[in-house]
Amino acid sequence: MNFYYAPMEGITLYPLRNIHREIFGKGVDKYFTPFLTATHTHHFKNREKKDILPDKNPAFDGCTDRIIPQIMAGCAEDFLWAAGEIKKLGYNEVNLNLGCPAPTVVNRRKGAGLLIDTDYLDEMLKKIFDAVPAADPEAFVSNDGSDMNSENKYPYVSIKSRLGFSSPDEAGRLMEIFAAYPIKELILHARVREDYYAGSPRLDDFKNAAYIYRQCGGTADICYNGSIDTPDDYKKILGYINSDQPVNSKTNRPLLSSVMIGRGLLANPALVRELGGGSALTGNELRLYLRKLYDSYSEYIPEDRNVIFKMLEHWAFLHVHFRDCERCLKAIRKARSKGEYSAAVNNIFSSCEFI
Ligand SMILES: Cc1cc2nc3c(=O)[nH]c(=O)nc-3n(C[C@H](O)[C@H](O)[C@H](O)COP(=O)(O)O)c2cc1C
Repeated sequence: MNFYYAPMEGITLYPLRNIHREIFGKGVDKYFTPFLTATHTHHFKNREKKDILPDKNPAFDGCTDRIIPQIMAGCAEDFLWAAGEIKKLGYNEVNLNLGCPAPTVVNRRKGAGLLIDTDYLDEMLKKIFDAVPAADPEAFVSNDGSDMNSENKYPYVSIKSRLGFSSPDEAGRLMEIFAAYPIKELILHARVREDYYAGSPRLDDFKNAAYIYRQCGGTADICYNGSIDTPDDYKKILGYINSDQPVNSKTNRPLLSSVMIGRGLLANPALVRELGGGSALTGNELRLYLRKLYDSYSEYIPEDRNVIFKMLEHWAFLHVHFRDCERCLKAIRKARSKGEYSAAVNNIFSSCEFI
């Protein structure tokens, strides 16, 4: 099983990516970046471009295969421009965002908004896949291990989608469309747009969609995404999805080859290690992670206050490791200087039981 760190806007940027990889990265096969917007004017925002510069990602040793930049685009032309620019930086795969539920995105027919008009989506994918290299899951590398796509001006394209916009009944048509193109990997978030990220993931509908994709001849690897927050969730979700034999496909590819985890890794940065049978997160590791993350954000954002706001996004998930921590957490939230913040963090570690 491959494990991927999910893209999360404003969060899974290079300061987090580098630190997570350095401390907990063993076993994480790919880190997806938050989306870069492919504008009509064909310019990336500076901050978006900076996020994928190889020299901003030193923990990856120039190995761009483990970082997958994600593109948000409303038409094939803009997508291809962005993909071409990203390829020039050395990346071999980009991911198309078909899942973002935000109204401002959807109303511009981007993200999950592209799931509404399936004829338009089909046309857009046709134009994209006429240009980009076809991903053959059996033949990514040549016999000597070199990348066969190094000559192409575009990278391979994977897709991150939901099961539909309003209803999972839409998944059948979507899977039929996806199956028609040589995508590198199909990542399915087990919800529809109207669910946003709330409620239980729709496991039956996910399984059904994956089966339809295979029945339609789709050969790309399929990645599950949605609410894997603990080893127990992983066991239950995987157990359920794998509970029947995979449908007979031409290539006998297994139904699932990877899982993508977002919020679960924010709450427990050692989750992938645990899923692989390794040890649970320790208090000392969490302390080290928090210290390095703070330093990493300090280089990214100049003002202490703003660094602390960034850290609070993590504390919103990490507080679960401390029993009865409301009072200490309040002090962390109130901190306005590095000194106040450090004192409040020291206090939570010394006063609250680590769980
Ligand atoms: C704050 C936040 C930002 C997100 N930003 C992105 C994004 O930029 N691109 C994307 O494809 N998904 C984005 N997502 C969705 C996640 O990648 C993932 O699909 C979702 O959190 C469900 O997985 P999880 O239950 O493991 O967290 C975001 C989710 C959250 C909570």
